[in-house]
Amino acid sequence: MISDVTIARPGPTRVAVIGLGYTGLPLALGLANAGHHVTGYDIDESKLAALRSGRSYLTDVRDEDLAVTSGTLRVTGDSSALEHAEAVVVCVPTPTATDGKPDLRAFDSVFEVLAAHLQPGALLVVQSTVPPGTTARAAALLGERLGLTPGEGFLVANAPERINPANAEGWNLENTPKIVGGINAESGERARQLLGSVCRVVVPVDSLEVAETAKVFENTFRLVNIALTYELEALCNSIGVSVHDVIDAAATKPYGFLAHRPGPGIGGECIPVDPRFLRSVAAESNVSMPLVEEAIRRADRRPLEVVDRLAELLSDADQELATARVLVVGAAYKPGVSDVRNSPSVEVIAELQRRGAKVSYVDPHVEVLSVDGAQVARAEWNRSAVLEHDCVVLMTPERQVVDRPLWYAAPLVLDAWNLAAAGDGIHHL
Ligand SMILES: NC(=O)c1ccc[n+]([C@@H]2O[C@H](COP(=O)([O-])OP(=O)(O)OC[C@H]3O[C@@H](n4cnc5c(N)ncnc54)[C@H](O)[C@@H]3O)[C@@H](O)[C@H]2O)c1
Repeated sequence: MISDVTIARPGPTRVAVIGLGYTGLPLALGLANAGHHVTGYDIDESKLAALRSGRSYLTDVRDEDLAVTSGTLRVTGDSSALEHAEAVVVCVPTPTATDGKPDLRAFDSVFEVLAAHLQPGALLVVQSTVPPGTTARAAALLGERLGLTPGEGFLVANAPERINPANAEGWNLENTPKIVGGINAESGERARQLLGSVCRVVVPVDSLEVAETAKVFENTFRLVNIALTYELEALCNSIGVSVHDVIDAAATKPYGFLAHRPGPGIGGECIPVDPRFLRSVAAESNVSMPLVEEAIRRADRRPLEVVDRLAELLSDADQELATARVLVVGAAYKPGVSDVRNSPSVEVIAELQRRGAKVSYVDPHVEVLSVDGAQVARAEWNRSAVLEHDCVVLMTPERQVVDRPLWYAAPLVLDAWNLAAAGDGIHHL
């Protein structure tokens, strides 16, 4: 039975946060501000240098947020600092490899480091998203190396991150419920106490695997539903209604419906990745998940459909994609962030370039963008940039762009987010 509990604050703990990126840095700051003594460990010297000089590299963390008010936060690239930790939280990247399988190299290398430095009695919390079963397997191997039994000689928990960078709804580390599952009751309890000092609501679950699976299921749910809107869009286009009008109407149902939208593709480190983790565990367990398979395939194809649609629109206007100058608006996978990992814009730009188009991009948060090893020309969002191109593709609804709808000056616009009414050179997918 899952229930929400609010946990009393424990006394200060010496905590190490491994990996100071989108998820680790806010956690390290949250823990320090809750009074803990935090060591942030990362292998990226440029990030450590930025933090030491008081500069944040995340759009969600302002420079002034780095001034810790209660406990302490020191950052280091020296793994021996982990020896002082009573609790260690792992926040390193867990992407997929090019073959779609989980790429756990960073995760495994952290466990190598922990084999040298984790202290008996310490609490180990995995916050990185991992395929179900990974935390227990990694803990068992670590236990062998340390000569300690997981759950006894050191405690083990999984507490997946649900951060939604740059979200406008105000969800953050403190107010987003935190799922915590332990390898045993004591591990779960210790992790709940620690994380309950930064998250208002901790949701205890019965095992590591429930926590791991809940995380990847949340994002699989989103992928499947977004892929479903692509199918709905095809149907709506063929019967001559707006898919967005249909979703808006359905969303008025006060229960049992959650609106998903057919954008230009799915990016970031979660929604495109986590269903592949579920798929990999399903394959290992000889379980077939055709719905998930098809949703992944449909989502993967989406950026190419954007390019196909643009080629068709240009052709209708007696132009060829191969000679077109295309302005792609938005390089990051979502508004308000500089994260281009798995961004559909990057795939769209790569495909446009492969087909001969001359591409520039606009993104207030992405200063340099390399695609297929070459730097893409960056433009400012102004009228002359719009006029210098044959067409504009609205990929990411960046606030700065939405607030200045200069695309109306363009001869042809492909609006992947329904920002403008169709007509007068403005087209939807
Ligand atoms: N970004 C998100 O929105 C988000 C949301 C929920 C969950 N997650 C999950 O959280 C985890 C971390 O993602 P992220 O977005 O914070 O990644 P990130 O790339 O922003 O940060 C990871 C950090 O880990 C560091 N690192 C890599 N290998 C290391 C090692 N061996 N030792 C120490 N540090 C190392 C990197 O230098 C980097 O600073 C992933 O599993 C991801 O799927 C991410």
